[in-house]
Amino acid sequence: MHIAIIGTGRMARGLARGWLHAGHTITFGSRAPDQRQDLLAELPGAELTDTVAAMERAEIVLLAIPFEAVKNFALAHADLLRERLVIDITNPFDKLPDNRIAGAEITATAIGDGARVIAAFKDNFWKTLDSPVSSTGLIRDVHFAGDDAEGKAVVTQLVEDLGFRPVDCGPLRNARVLDAMVPLMLELDQRYGGGAAESSWKFLTS
Ligand SMILES: NC(=O)c1ccc[n+]([C@@H]2O[C@H](COP(=O)([O-])OP(=O)(O)OC[C@H]3O[C@@H](n4cnc5c(N)ncnc54)[C@H](OP(=O)(O)O)[C@@H]3O)[C@@H](O)[C@H]2O)c1
Repeated sequence: MHIAIIGTGRMARGLARGWLHAGHTITFGSRAPDQRQDLLAELPGAELTDTVAAMERAEIVLLAIPFEAVKNFALAHADLLRERLVIDITNPFDKLPDNRIAGAEITATAIGDGARVIAAFKDNFWKTLDSPVSSTGLIRDVHFAGDDAEGKAVVTQLVEDLGFRPVDCGPLRNARVLDAMVPLMLELDQRYGGGAAESSWKFLTS
């Protein structure tokens, strides 16, 4: 698949590395592509351009920018985003207007009717993206939520392509829970993981 990753930071690079390895086409969309040329050496095969050109080329857009920037980005590019599957990995922490809405719901509202937004990877530390299997031998989960069945099937495959275990957490409104899991993950990582940011949530059945 052709994935536009908006942002060129830690999550963007980690996800791109895995998907390039799996054979996907990655185009980074940056505010300053001329200043991000190191990306092309770090991730051979990836493309790098401005945000609009990246989205125009792709069928999937993954938002890996700060949560504070997402609403305006979605409003500004609603027409492009509406025609694509949007994966929102951004974490609002305490920046939500109230705790009864998910960051990804704000993204979907900004894009407007027809938006296909899946919240995913919110509770996966960037440091773990290269190690889908933990040191104790457990496959790490990727939790996602959304209302678009086809989009979720695509995300399921993309998660498996990274070697992680996809966990469908239900409708987009359940992203409210995923948002809330992130600060708790940080607290637990401090308490039990020494603050190394290498821990993960794991949903276990029998
Ligand atoms: N770090 C984690 O472990 C983790 C885990 C799960 C989810 N997340 C979420 O994933 C997103 C990215 O996190 P990250 O750790 O990869 O961040 P990061 O390393 O700081 O990278 C963010 C990227 O977004 C772009 N950017 C920065 N400020 C922006 C702005 N005001 N408007 C538009 N673009 C801007 C920059 O790319 P350009 O300058 O090239 O445009 C930058 O490289 C965040 O929303 C975060 O909450 C992070």
